[in-house]
Amino acid sequence: KYTYDYLIVGSGLFGSTFAQIMNGNGKKCLVIDKRGHTGGNIYTKEENDIKIHWYGAHIFHTDNEEVWHYINKFTKFNNYINSPLAYSEGKLYNLPFNMNTFNKLWNVNTPEEAKHKIQEQCSKYKDISQPANLEEQALKLCGDDIYYTFIKEYTEKQWGRPANQLPASIIKRIPFRLTYNNNYFNDPYQGIPKDGYTALTNNLLKDIHVQTYTNYFDNIPYFQSIAEKILFTGCIDEYFEYKFGRLDYRSLKFKHIYLDTDNYQGNAVINYNEAKYPFTRIIEHKHFEFGKQPSTIITKEYPQKYTPSDEPYYPINDEKNLKCFNKYKALAEKNSHVIFGGRLGQYAYFDMDDTIASAISLTQKELSI
Ligand code: FDA
Repeated sequence: KYTYDYLIVGSGLFGSTFAQIMNGNGKKCLVIDKRGHTGGNIYTKEENDIKIHWYGAHIFHTDNEEVWHYINKFTKFNNYINSPLAYSEGKLYNLPFNMNTFNKLWNVNTPEEAKHKIQEQCSKYKDISQPANLEEQALKLCGDDIYYTFIKEYTEKQWGRPANQLPASIIKRIPFRLTYNNNYFNDPYQGIPKDGYTALTNNLLKDIHVQTYTNYFDNIPYFQSIAEKILFTGCIDEYFEYKFGRLDYRSLKFKHIYLDTDNYQGNAVINYNEAKYPFTRIIEHKHFEFGKQPSTIITKEYPQKYTPSDEPYYPINDEKNLKCFNKYKALAEKNSHVIFGGRLGQYAYFDMDDTIASAISLTQKELSI
């Protein structure tokens, strides 16, 4: 009766992983995407022999053996280790907060000295037992120097609100590393796909019918008629015509700049922590791949208020939005013809490894493994 077993709306990492596994299990899949390319937000665009992370820097990292084993069937990874820097008051500091950071900030050399300094900084705020907002929470956890140099203005740019009006729950803990180790992630596996994320997506979608520039909402009756089931990885509120209201997001704008120099900042990621810079970070893409090209491409990342014409990037997981999302979720559970997956379908921030893990788990459910 149906041409396809699954119509997969969205060719991002979730849709592509789902399609690959279902196709491998004999299920006929059609993948559609409204964008002109596949890969969703992990898409890389190649220009001047440089792979530009078109929707923001993507560094793969995981401690999930199953995910690592799975994804390595479709790409090899280089040995890139994420070691971002933070620019504040004319100086560059290492992240995550570690002995290099403390050495530059306080001129301390040993872990004992650093520990003592952190305790001294925090002691000023020891009477805050129930932090009422993010500012109080951060001051309690790290004290003035770290908060005002690195956290306050950066967080305010990111969320578009004063830190004392943001919920304390955004910051649960501030990890301090008392070693001179600049590796941002603690995961055992990390890297950038050797041939880029676009090649990775192409490998996942090999032998699967794919249509780009195809929006599900442009022909709903047709798309509903061609497949036994739909996996929808777009916005769940849009699918249900916003009947319970719109879910809110934080958006971003990316400004890609081509420069006639071979090395602009000497590192892939530099955060700009101060409010006087409207962007939160500058990415220099070639450093993700140890590039030797004669020119370079950088991207400035500007946090934005989300309006319906913008790309939704970060879900706002506050009470109001979660309540709204739960209504959509309950409605979705009543409809066995459509499944919702991925960061937009599940209204959650997922790293790439969580996205893959979640897609694998859905295929197991669908295949009743
Ligand atoms: P994704 O959004 O990629 O795909 C959804 C697709 O559906 C899109 O292609 C969209 O066009 C399509 N679509 C939507 N509606 C449609 C419709 N009506 N019809 C047709 N198509 C439709 N993770 C990590 O591990 N390391 C990192 O460094 C980063 N960095 C990072 C930076 C930034 C700025 C963000 C926002 C996110 C990250 N991530 C990350 C997270 C990573 O981007 C995320 O895990 C995956 O991209 C999620 O893949 P999805 O398939 O769920 O969504």
